[in-house]
Amino acid sequence: MTLDVVILAAGQGTRMRSTLPKVLHRLAGKPMVRHVIDTARGLEAERTHVVVGHGAEKVREALADCEVHFALQAEQKGTGHAVAQALEGLGEGKVLVLYGDVPLIRRETLAGLLDGVDDDHLGLLTVTLADPTGYGRILRNAEGEAVAIVEHKDASQTELAIAECNTGIMAMTAAQLRRWLPRLSADNAQGEYYLTDIIAMAAAEGVRIVTAQPADPLEVEGVNNRLQMARLERAHQLATAERLMADGVALIDPARIDIRGTLTCGHDVEIDVGCVFEGQVELGEGVRIGPHCVIRDSHIGAETVIEPHSVIEGTVIAGRGRVGPFARLRPGTRLAVGAKVGNFVETKNAEVGEGSKINHLSYVGDARLGRDVNVGAGTITCNYDGAHKHRTEIGDGAFIGSNTALVAPVSVGSNATVGAGSTISKDVADNALAVSRGRQISKADWPRPSKDR
Ligand code: UD1
Ligand code: CA
Repeated sequence: MTLDVVILAAGQGTRMRSTLPKVLHRLAGKPMVRHVIDTARGLEAERTHVVVGHGAEKVREALADCEVHFALQAEQKGTGHAVAQALEGLGEGKVLVLYGDVPLIRRETLAGLLDGVDDDHLGLLTVTLADPTGYGRILRNAEGEAVAIVEHKDASQTELAIAECNTGIMAMTAAQLRRWLPRLSADNAQGEYYLTDIIAMAAAEGVRIVTAQPADPLEVEGVNNRLQMARLERAHQLATAERLMADGVALIDPARIDIRGTLTCGHDVEIDVGCVFEGQVELGEGVRIGPHCVIRDSHIGAETVIEPHSVIEGTVIAGRGRVGPFARLRPGTRLAVGAKVGNFVETKNAEVGEGSKINHLSYVGDARLGRDVNVGAGTITCNYDGAHKHRTEIGDGAFIGSNTALVAPVSVGSNATVGAGSTISKDVADNALAVSRGRQISKADWPRPSKDR
């Protein structure tokens, strides 16, 4: 049977106190609803439908690159009414109902739930909670079969004592939904069309309610306010950190790391506290990352050391590199084996050859450096003339004295030397010395001006 996934995302999320629709708030760097869409993709759903309402335009825009169908729920009249808005677009197979504000549901849990679904079996994900306040309760008959869900606000005293709760996640056939949804009524405490009422309809028809519980209650945790959002983020980050540690990564403190994307690590990687990893980051064997680094979409080769407070983006480091502290490597930076970029150095679109060093206070952009180049403190590639970017080429073994301005386009030949304080605007030949600063004048025994003279 084919699968349609329906993701409810029309609610306002008033308690977030935000102009951003709730489902677009980010967990691990990604809008919550995108986590759910990615999970649906993992299930190989034929179609994914997102039911939008509050902030519909913003949600559509934020998901413009996703292969999803949108259904508009202009007025929020309950979860049953929300699913009904997607009814027209459903196929003939199974349907799975998920929620844009329940981001951590796992594919495996859902696959298990879907397995049991057919014309005679409906799948319902439940969770047993110490404090079930606010949740719909699962009613079971004398045989222990689930037969109905009663919402908290409609529940009697005895029903409120039930700890088994509705997660909201359920799976059934499209034919069943077409039969049951039009029969929902809003005659209840909240005046809403409850999706949960289909459980009693199913039971009445002799359709069995097959319940399952998630392996981890975090999977079914929803977000209503920023505190819950932050708690879910920490719990998710801790779970990710624990997985990394199980794979052999040394985290100095698993509670102080943030991974907003995918972090892949070789053996014996060590990561100090307060680091943020974004996008796709690969760390080779024996890499050490100092405290408070931000690393985005980069590959850092084996045995490289990143010193504290470095910010690295779109960079490839071949191996045995040394970076920071306080270095900023911007996109297009390529460090060959053993290259070194030190404190307060910014690089952008720069290839740095094997064993070359840019140790202090420099800007190197749109440049290629050969091997064993030494760039002195305070060297700047003047790559921008106000309209265009120009390139700087520096040959193997060149030595650039401190406080040099390299006015691009310009090249410095191999084994050439540039005297400190130079402004280099013409190419320097191999093995040459170039100095362009004013000559020093010294006057012996010079009387310094003073006020009383
Ligand atoms: C719902 C369930 C309850 C379950 C709980 C789990 C119903 C009637 N009740 O209650 O049994 O224990 O979830 O969290 O289903 N939504 C729409 N359109 C609407 C109404 C809701 O898109 O018209 C979306 C909301 O954005 C939200 C989700 O559906 O993501 C759940 O809605 P909410 O009002 O929070 O339902 P609960 O009262 O929590
Ligand atoms: Ca809710």
